[in-house]
Amino acid sequence: MRMYDLIMKKRNGGKLTKEEIGYMVQGFTAGEIPDYQMSAMMMAVYFMGMDEEETLHLTMAMAHSGDMLDLSGIQGIKVDKHSTGGVGDKTSLALAPMVAACGIKVAKMSGRGLGHTGGTIDKLESFPGFTTEIPEDRFMENVNRIGIAIMGQTADLAPADKKLYALRDVTATVDNMSLIASSIMSKKLASGADAIILDVKSGSGAFMKTEEKARALAEEMVKLGKNAGRRTAAVISDMDQPLGYAVGNALEVKEAIDTLNGNGPADFLELCLTLGSHMVVAGGMAKNTAEAEGKLRQVIADGSALGKLADFVEAQGGDREMVYHPERLPRAAFTESIPSPREGYVSRIVCDEVGVCSLMLGGGRETKDSAIDLSVGLVLQKKVGDFVRKGEALAVIHGNDREKMQAAARRFTESYAFSDCPAERQPFIKAVIE
Ligand code: URA
Repeated sequence: MRMYDLIMKKRNGGKLTKEEIGYMVQGFTAGEIPDYQMSAMMMAVYFMGMDEEETLHLTMAMAHSGDMLDLSGIQGIKVDKHSTGGVGDKTSLALAPMVAACGIKVAKMSGRGLGHTGGTIDKLESFPGFTTEIPEDRFMENVNRIGIAIMGQTADLAPADKKLYALRDVTATVDNMSLIASSIMSKKLASGADAIILDVKSGSGAFMKTEEKARALAEEMVKLGKNAGRRTAAVISDMDQPLGYAVGNALEVKEAIDTLNGNGPADFLELCLTLGSHMVVAGGMAKNTAEAEGKLRQVIADGSALGKLADFVEAQGGDREMVYHPERLPRAAFTESIPSPREGYVSRIVCDEVGVCSLMLGGGRETKDSAIDLSVGLVLQKKVGDFVRKGEALAVIHGNDREKMQAAARRFTESYAFSDCPAERQPFIKAVIE
């Protein structure tokens, strides 16, 4: 078999066989197929697509490209959650402690930022000393003891996805349904949870820009999970504007802490309750989602979810006191308001542009290896449907470099559109696919 022939076959619209996909994934993982050939293949897949069978073969080949984690040492049903990525998406930071406080075992593998979207690991590193590079036995022990552990994708777990993810990030081949579905599901299958709840984003800040595409992705992933014998469900939520108000690593950690203190933004709380209730039901701790939601509200009200976050941060090397004193998290040197250029109702926010503004401030990576500034970002003051007067703040920008702040503020202002009447509010949760 030759990679050249496989690239040509896909480029011409052909269907790759299980053997061909296996050859390509193994060869790439072993370093025998170079990046430039795999990049060409990714672009061919981007344009010509993969059908359901090809996507299944790709997912399975990537899942089996390294170790398959055995979580049988953890008692009870292990539940994992994964988001397709968005702007201001700090969901795991609040959701994992909420469901763990309800007695669910959260054994989770998370990622770093990708494109204009942030990553859970980067956000968690706002707690100095916090690490997701923990050995497997400590990961298991933490899940058994406190109910949550989060680790990064190790070199041994779905290594094919790890290499491909980095390649896709820099070759404009992220937003393809088969590639996203196989990337997410290969990791989820390799990391061994019994149940998988997927948070599929739809809108201008998501990789899937329309609800139709998000639904197709959700259905594809649910099918992949079920075919692999895992209980799988997907929630489709709106990403046409940032989730909550905060965008930027430490700022998002603070917003997640506020939420666990009962002061979270309505959309973010709704998402945590929806995903969480499916996780609690899948983990066998409630008979239905209504009962599960009651439990989740209770663990916020009695402080046990916040306590779980503190236990989790401490167990992975961070300072638990910061959970109770979020003002000690990394803070930028300067803050400035971004004034509204006119009076009216906010009718639209180009959400991925807001993600880019955070990257411009230093909140994301320029290259695969660059460091990120955890303190910078934006806190929106106005979202779609809100009324704003000319000169009133649309957002507060947090930065360490005045020039970058000015450039980001200009771009941010351009991402807003206004109208004279309030826009009709769209439902935030669009569908649940089970
Ligand atoms: N998240 C992933 O893990 N992979 C993708 O391809 C996109 C989002």
